[in-house]
Amino acid sequence: VPSLPTPDLVAALAAIVGAEHAIVDPDIVGSYVTDWTGRFHGDALAVVRPHTVGEVAEVVRWCAAHGVAITTQGGNTSLVAGAVPQQSVVLLTRGLNDVGPLDPDAGQITVGAGVTLAAVHAAVAGSGWEFGVDLGARDTATIGGMVATNAGGIRVVRHGTMRANLIGSEAVLGTGDVISHLGGLAKDNTGYELGALLCGSEGTLGIVTAVRLRLVRSFAERVVALVGVANVAEAVALAGHLRRTVDSLDALEVMVAPAMAVVAEHLATSAPFADAGAVLLVEAAADHDPTETLAAALNGREAIVATDRAGRARLWRYRESQTEAIGRRGVPHKLDVSVPLAATAAFVDDVMALGREHSAEVFVFGHLGDGNLHVNLLGPAPDDERLDELVLRLVASRGGSISAEHGIGRAKRQWLHLNRSPAELDAFRRVKAALDPAGILNPGVLLPD
Ligand code: FAD
Ligand code: MLT
Ligand code: ZN
Repeated sequence: VPSLPTPDLVAALAAIVGAEHAIVDPDIVGSYVTDWTGRFHGDALAVVRPHTVGEVAEVVRWCAAHGVAITTQGGNTSLVAGAVPQQSVVLLTRGLNDVGPLDPDAGQITVGAGVTLAAVHAAVAGSGWEFGVDLGARDTATIGGMVATNAGGIRVVRHGTMRANLIGSEAVLGTGDVISHLGGLAKDNTGYELGALLCGSEGTLGIVTAVRLRLVRSFAERVVALVGVANVAEAVALAGHLRRTVDSLDALEVMVAPAMAVVAEHLATSAPFADAGAVLLVEAAADHDPTETLAAALNGREAIVATDRAGRARLWRYRESQTEAIGRRGVPHKLDVSVPLAATAAFVDDVMALGREHSAEVFVFGHLGDGNLHVNLLGPAPDDERLDELVLRLVASRGGSISAEHGIGRAKRQWLHLNRSPAELDAFRRVKAALDPAGILNPGVLLPD
């Protein structure tokens, strides 16, 4: 791979996408080489902005023939440095921005990979349907990036991750071949599900250019409650009770006390339930006001409740501002794990103890309904990964996953073996070699060397 863009590369990209979309100006290129947290930096040969699947395919074919690596970038909100280039061309997907058509009977919509999540929500609003995946980076994260990471978010407890909400994909493989399966058939057992394979592949097998999304029916009434509990064990028990008893449960999140304190400070307010060891955020959504059902399930516990849009948003700020609040305090090491629910409370205790031993601040919050905790470490230098490794080994020893939703990216590939056997890693490499034989798609991401 050349270390500087060669005249050939620049001319080839410009011939495919037009000179204004083949960018080599170092100031502009430099704005695409750092991750969202500011912890990871890379370098890029050029930035290319295709607007059609045909342009993507031509770029991939040229790069494959000339051994030039491509890093695909959507909104660059990856929290594992998955979109940070290393001596590669950054392929920006934001020009792939067609929205629709929406099929009102099937409850499906086709969108380009560069469309933001917020734009998808806006496009289906008022149709009687909603898109069932939602997350805090909605204004910037693209649907293609969310497919590539199999993103989760705050509605997984009801609607599942991206994979469950994906009916079909169009993509350009590492060979430059275009595969397209956007017909929207709810039932279709004609062989390998390539769309599902690309989902979670982190840009290493193909570049997703468009997707067909499954929609879920929209509910008129919502209620959000914040509930303080003594500790994480009580949070887990209450979460189980709510999942069993509230059929309209739509979100079930947790903030462990230090995380709650840091977000309250960031929002310049006091933390609700000052003495609580953890706070749950619960949302229920139904055709008829679900407040009574939720209140009955909470069985007299003290709660802060809102049903109006502004009030619900005010309560969600304690959860959705976590990432920003921690980021303002320093450059975090972000670990995104799941552990079996029965092991959750002891895991949090152990992680807090590790933090104290290593003089690091530890902020834990996450999607408790899915057993997914975000462990944020502040203190270690950006390249000091000793504490990260201890936490990830602890996760694996408890039967957990080192990545519940953000993916492996560049940040965690050295620890993939904690969750995946040699036989699985070998199968991964053979799939990679089949779909990206020149090895040009996101080298350095996901797969260990
Ligand atoms: P990028 O960051 O641009 O890329 C992510 C990965 O996908 C990279 O490996 C990239 O190469 C690849 N990629 C991007 N587009 C394509 C494409 N079209 N084809 C193939 N590969 C592609 N994640 C969750 O799962 N749940 C959350 O609740 C959540 N909340 C977040 C909140 C905040 C404030 C932030 C900053 C991030 C959050 N994330 C969350 C992380 C992030 O994974 C998601 O925001 C989203 O999935 C990334 O989309 P993106 O367009 O920014 O992708
Ligand atoms: C979240 O759930 O808020 C996200 O995954 C982001 C994060 O982990 O900071
Ligand atoms: Zn999350």
